[in-house]
Amino acid sequence: MRKPIIAGNWKMNGSRSSIKELLDGIKAGVGEVKSAEVVVCAPSIYIADVAAQLEGTDIAWGGQNLSTEPKGAFTGEISADMLLDFNCKYVIVGHSERRSLYGETDEIVAEKFEVARKAGLRPILCIGETLQEREDGVTNDVCARQIMAVIERSGVQALLDGVIAYEPVWAIGTGKTATPEQAQETHAAIRKLIAEKDASVAEQVRIQYGGSMNAGNAAELLAMEDIDGGLIGGASLKAEDFLTICKAAG
Ligand code: 13P
Repeated sequence: MRKPIIAGNWKMNGSRSSIKELLDGIKAGVGEVKSAEVVVCAPSIYIADVAAQLEGTDIAWGGQNLSTEPKGAFTGEISADMLLDFNCKYVIVGHSERRSLYGETDEIVAEKFEVARKAGLRPILCIGETLQEREDGVTNDVCARQIMAVIERSGVQALLDGVIAYEPVWAIGTGKTATPEQAQETHAAIRKLIAEKDASVAEQVRIQYGGSMNAGNAAELLAMEDIDGGLIGGASLKAEDFLTICKAAG
């Protein structure tokens, strides 16, 4: 049985006061979440605040990015050890916004995945196709290429140190969600690809769906066989909506 996992990706949103209010709300309701693992990924400058507020709760926290380098003259970067210093458990790698806006290639993302897991962080590996790629019928090829970059660098077993998040780029922040059937089809294809390398890893690895998942559509997406959770953007900024999604996960 794969334990469901719901992670909030706050992206570049919030303030010290709004984050306090959000976390107070999540903490007040998280007791009603039965089995799902609950994670929030905060802007790095707020991670210390988040850690102080979540220490001792069942909610885990993480970063949204990390450097491939351990330390040194890399202005503006955050290392794996810095995230660990604030007890981050997770870190998002390869979000489509980082791939498209900040030039992160499959190779850079695979290196970040490796650096994170070697340090003891759990990487949330984001993959997914653009609208053009979906229309061109190459969705599964794109996901395969993005995952294979990690498998070739770190080996298939390494996937179990992290989580995969399938996020169709056309569904991110657009309000246009993949249908449960569309999402399931791609999740199943991702699991099949991994099974060709190692059936046991494929069976165990958790694959989240991300892209306009919200309080209204989460239950039907999460009910699909190969959807093991969600990576939530906009709806993770409202405690009530985020909790509804967490509860829908189990
Ligand atoms: P939205 O939920 O706002 O579409 O964002 C999804 C996402 O990119 C999570 O990483």
